[in-house]
Amino acid sequence: MRVKVIFPLCLVLVAMLPAVAQAQVDRMSLEEKARCVVGIKREDFPPTNKGICARTAPFPAYNIPTLALADGSSGVRLSRRETDKATAFPSNMALASSWDPGIAGEVGSAAGYEARGYRIHVFLSPGMNIIRNPLCGRNFEYFSEDPLIAGKMAAAYVRGVQANGVAACIKHFTCNNQETNRSHVNTLVGDRALREIFLKGYEICVKEASPWSLMTSYNSLNGLPVQENHDLVNGILRGEWGFDGLIMTDWSISDHNTAAQLHAGNDFFTPGSDKQMQDIIGGVKDGSIDIKDLDRACSNIVRLCDRTARGELRPVPDLSLGAVASKKAACESAVLLENNGMLPLTSGGKAALFGVRSYRLVATGSGSAYVVCPYVRQIYTAFSEAGVGTDAELQDLYLKYADFASADIAYNEKVKVSIGLPLLPELDLSRTFIDKVAERDDYAVITIGRSSEEGVDRFLEDDYYLSETEKKLIENVCEAFHAKGKKVAVVLNIAGIIEVESWRSLPDAILNVWLPGQEGGSAVYDLLVGRSNPSGRLALSFPVDYFDCPSAMDFPYNHPKEGKNYDQTSYSEGIYVGYRHYDTRNVRVSYPFGYGLSYTDFEYSNFRVKKTGKGVSISFAVKNCGNKSGREAYGAYISAPERGLDKPARELKAFGKTTLLAPGESEQVRLEIPMSSLASYNEEKGKWEIARGQYLVRIGANVRNPLLEGRFRK
Ligand code: GLC
Repeated sequence: MRVKVIFPLCLVLVAMLPAVAQAQVDRMSLEEKARCVVGIKREDFPPTNKGICARTAPFPAYNIPTLALADGSSGVRLSRRETDKATAFPSNMALASSWDPGIAGEVGSAAGYEARGYRIHVFLSPGMNIIRNPLCGRNFEYFSEDPLIAGKMAAAYVRGVQANGVAACIKHFTCNNQETNRSHVNTLVGDRALREIFLKGYEICVKEASPWSLMTSYNSLNGLPVQENHDLVNGILRGEWGFDGLIMTDWSISDHNTAAQLHAGNDFFTPGSDKQMQDIIGGVKDGSIDIKDLDRACSNIVRLCDRTARGELRPVPDLSLGAVASKKAACESAVLLENNGMLPLTSGGKAALFGVRSYRLVATGSGSAYVVCPYVRQIYTAFSEAGVGTDAELQDLYLKYADFASADIAYNEKVKVSIGLPLLPELDLSRTFIDKVAERDDYAVITIGRSSEEGVDRFLEDDYYLSETEKKLIENVCEAFHAKGKKVAVVLNIAGIIEVESWRSLPDAILNVWLPGQEGGSAVYDLLVGRSNPSGRLALSFPVDYFDCPSAMDFPYNHPKEGKNYDQTSYSEGIYVGYRHYDTRNVRVSYPFGYGLSYTDFEYSNFRVKKTGKGVSISFAVKNCGNKSGREAYGAYISAPERGLDKPARELKAFGKTTLLAPGESEQVRLEIPMSSLASYNEEKGKWEIARGQYLVRIGANVRNPLLEGRFRK
């Protein structure tokens, strides 16, 4: 009986929220409404800053509390001046490689728990722009080259955050795919690419997870600033997809048009300025701003207060919970790229740990995603804590170098006010010294690292391509250890794709752990010795060379201030981003989308494809036919009939991952693919259409290695 009364009552209360918010807004003066959408200035923040990067204005007379907003994509970014710390999680690029939205959800939940404990109401994460070019400085904050993976991962992450009563904020909507001149660059994108690739992930996330906030991006799209684009923001985001949260600008610059931003659908102007307040007051008075737009914005802010600031205050978070989630995600996201029998490491023996990053792991990227975490578990300490002998002279050499260089960096930070950790260049070791180490140790592990930063794109030299020192290190260590019949593994601790083709045949194993968060070192150790069986699959293609990338020339790859792609970047690749390009044009890649090895083997069987009323139902069995427990990721790639619009060779339309299967254990998998997901956007007609004819379905994580094939007709 009680449920019968309470449940409908809750529905009524939720339905009443907008009316209640509007009633509060109706009591506000014009000045109060202008202050509401602009927020309070940093100098007026309460003393415990905690790294809060914006606050909405409180109105105690109307029972409207202030909301605190804080970054960032790898965990709660607190102030470096404070004692509080937060967990550094693996980057979103890493999470996507888990091919398991459940992992993204666990990280979102753990980060949301910490945000709530630190009295943060809006957590400015996840970043989820499409990774269209390997060099974008913020790729590590984003998930994938594929919109389905981006959308599903972001949706799971958002649900995790919001389960704590904290608003997630998906960003940066949209086509913010370069950092060079990010606040003014004009991106030229065709309607079909916009709909099918650059908007599709946001559409999936909005429809499946209802994020309570979203951040519009700095850049312009086809000549109009995104933040002033009414058709895009109010039209598509709110009108077509039903987004009902708060929309804020990215830390907008004053030369944008406040009235146009408000009319387009932005509710909150971060970080807000007196100029914008005056623009709003003046605009309402002279009629250039419709008071209805201002009321809508204020209501959305008040509704967000109701969603996030009315619950009980929680104690300061227990960071041990985040540490567990961070390590699990790091293990699940690692991708084993090469292994000729070296891994898992079985015998004891003495390890020679080469590479600065074996001693100074890059846990997170820099910029607003940088996290002041309680510790970073280093690879070398994970080995020694496990009682594995490591080369003391090598360790001493690297630690001395890293300490010296870090002191240098600390000075740079003070001078440059960098909020991230600029990278130490690799240490140059002589071949004579390496031969000595190869003589006395049993195997080698070389860690190659990359960081990446908001506000600046990556470089080709010594970044996308290995430096001469790094290349020499890998060549010399492999030659010296192979000469003694000993093996070498390379660990990639990277913020994005790097060139691997020229050297990947040298080592006996390559393990890619991306930016693995604060537990990265212990995750690397567990993966190398097989305590954790690598199950990650690439959510990004590794091209043979940068210039094979479809957007290579449509990107400021050498960052000229006056050069091409500074003021304007054309997305001439259209929908052919990542594997959609490489597979359709048969371009060889170093590692394809969906690629990843395991310490065990899996076989697929009992494949069924059945049309249903709403789409296609696919089922198959996956069996662990190896001798180690492991998880298998899988994808359903669909090839449409060559009819009407040109189509990519195949597109991912569903994916997932088995539970941990013991040797001999099987799992029955069922995937539902809605017919609507097969549609292409016809930009001439301005509508979606589904080609009639025979569709090919291929099952297997690796886009180029189908394990099952089937057909159906539309
Ligand atoms: C930055 C970033 C955005 C971040 C915001 C607050 O400009 O683009 O991702 O959330 O400012 O730090």
